[in-house]
Amino acid sequence: MAIDPYDLVDDSFPVPALPGRVVTGIEADDVHGSLGADLLLQANNCVRAYGEFHLALSGGSTPLPFYRCLMVDPRFRQLPWERTHLWVVDDRCVAPDDERCNFLHIRETIVEHVEIPPHQVHPMDAHLPGAAEAYDRALRETLAWREVGHDRLDFVLLGMGGDGHTASLFPHSPALVEPEALVVANDGPTVTPPARVTMTYRLLNASRFVAVLVMGASKHAMLERVARADADDAATLPIRGIVPTGGELRWYLDRAACTGVQSP
Ligand code: 6PG
Repeated sequence: MAIDPYDLVDDSFPVPALPGRVVTGIEADDVHGSLGADLLLQANNCVRAYGEFHLALSGGSTPLPFYRCLMVDPRFRQLPWERTHLWVVDDRCVAPDDERCNFLHIRETIVEHVEIPPHQVHPMDAHLPGAAEAYDRALRETLAWREVGHDRLDFVLLGMGGDGHTASLFPHSPALVEPEALVVANDGPTVTPPARVTMTYRLLNASRFVAVLVMGASKHAMLERVARADADDAATLPIRGIVPTGGELRWYLDRAACTGVQSP
């Protein structure tokens, strides 16, 4: 049957009722466009207000196509990298050239392609003893240049694992209950090996903007569970512990994540 070119595509689909705002797109490109636009706006606003922008990025497979999009899409080439401090949300305790190292991928997809001053690039070096304490110190010292109250991350990009973890905050793991530190080591039976170093709720929830990027049909069932849960369920579903105290929480989902059905 011939396709009528004037027929409108029905692009409505059910969206899980998650806390904060939910931004959806049919395909990955649409979601990346919305996330990139929000990142650019926040970055420019922070550079205008503070002269710099503190960005923390996650690892995992979901954000890599987004990072590539930031590099090649002309809309995002004006991100103010020369004024950006680039942090990593979490990393695995492996050598920096190990394929499992989150920062290796961030370095290869972003750092090597933008004009960011080397002292503003902050790998976690999670393979070194005392890495969590050193990263905690580096964050406090760098953010201390700002006025009290503004000494927080400006934009954090998180993902969500199929078990409901985010960053390296795994269900029932010791890092979930850390009250003071901004960064801790995390390990235990629920932590997918190798051991990790991760930003804590305290730091993540203080951020000005928290973006959670979740794509693909394999995440649908967990998104539905997270939508039915509440903040008290954070021990079992750590993503529910992301409740920014004064900042914005925004989810970025594709149709497959919302419906459980992959596009043909
Ligand atoms: C990591 C992450 C982690 C990730 C989720 C989702 O180091 O793996 O920071 O929290 O965001 O596990 O990973 P995927 O995008 O690979 O599904």
